[in-house]
Amino acid sequence: MSQDAEIILEGKSYKFPIVVGSEGEKAIDIGKLRDVTGYITLDTGYKNTGATKSAITFLDGEQGVLRYRGYPIEELAEKASFLEVSYLLIYGELPTEAQLDAFRKRITRHTNLHEDIKKIFDGFPSTAHPMGVLSSVVSALTAFYPGAINPNSSDDEEDLTVVRLMAKLPTIAAWSYRNSKGQPLMYPKNKYGYVENFLYMMFATPNEDYELDPIVVSALNKLLILHADHEQNCSTSTVRIVGSAKASLYSSVAAGINALWGPLHGGANQEVIEMLDEIQASGISTKEYIEKVKNKTVRLMGFGHRVYKNFDPRAKIIKKACDDILNNLGVKDPVLEIAKELEQAALSDPYFVERKLYPNVDFYSGIIYRALGLQTDLFTVMFALGRLPGWIGQWKELRDANEPIGRPRQVYTGYNNRPYVDIQQRG
Ligand code: MLT
Repeated sequence: MSQDAEIILEGKSYKFPIVVGSEGEKAIDIGKLRDVTGYITLDTGYKNTGATKSAITFLDGEQGVLRYRGYPIEELAEKASFLEVSYLLIYGELPTEAQLDAFRKRITRHTNLHEDIKKIFDGFPSTAHPMGVLSSVVSALTAFYPGAINPNSSDDEEDLTVVRLMAKLPTIAAWSYRNSKGQPLMYPKNKYGYVENFLYMMFATPNEDYELDPIVVSALNKLLILHADHEQNCSTSTVRIVGSAKASLYSSVAAGINALWGPLHGGANQEVIEMLDEIQASGISTKEYIEKVKNKTVRLMGFGHRVYKNFDPRAKIIKKACDDILNNLGVKDPVLEIAKELEQAALSDPYFVERKLYPNVDFYSGIIYRALGLQTDLFTVMFALGRLPGWIGQWKELRDANEPIGRPRQVYTGYNNRPYVDIQQRG
């Protein structure tokens, strides 16, 4: 196969190199397109545009494949801990026991927040959405750890920032929840592991000993792994483009949290539960709801995906986990039955099959989070906790590659040149 792509513009031939990835993905490198032709490309939403080369996560949308650093998501979800997967995404390899133990110990030493950060929580009304609190407090970490702002900080300083963020995000998330409930803040306990500590800070009370449920710990570990990275999705692309301006990791991740908050992105899991609750409250059948979806009077949240064209491998894993967790916890959630009926209807109805509309990762995750005792507006916070190592790994990859600042071009469609009009002559 020719190593060049040929484009003919206004009768003139131009050749551009073809890049082939390690899984055979092909791209046309148009890095010099405008210089040599005067043309740019236009690809609103970047559906056909690769922003970078990355060695972190591989997706095959047609085959429903998801791998972190080459390891299949099915194996990692079943066999690994979230901290192992975080290490893999951030540093590139699965850790040895000694490396994982050192990583865990470093994180444990940094789980506390500066006492002055409590004043930031106090400044929020109890009705504040936890995602807004999360991004605000993460951004505020630059005030408490200003060394992270230096774009030329040493590798050790950068790695300390990585460890601090991994360590503190669960505390920030748990405290934003506790603060919204007017409940006492629970300080991290060094005897607990990463997931256990989060659950302790979320649900323990100062008055009683807290008993961890291994089913809940295992479920949360799996959910966080399934959300840990997903190549160049909206929030990760946000983290990368902010990082490309040499902004700090805290600022880049705070921006990613805000992007993830969008209902078309990480907010979808909250939208799914609200949709299922509405169906249950309305008393209409899933068959009637499906008809409403078809005549476009309602949206079917948690279905379809920009990349996966047949099924989201994470949804298959989550669906089984959902059954196991609810059975093990003895939770009977009527919306789970509604969810299963919707899924069956969508998978068998030509309307959805033709449009490649099938459950994605958001469809079942909300049901599990609710079974774990989390309130709906925390679901996207859980997505952010899971996605953090992916954001960090992608940010590090961009910085280590010394990529240029991200600055897309545009096709201008506004007014042509025109003279200023005094205000007396307007209107
Ligand atoms: C994700 O995991 O980020 C979502 O599936 C969205 C995406 O990949 O575009």
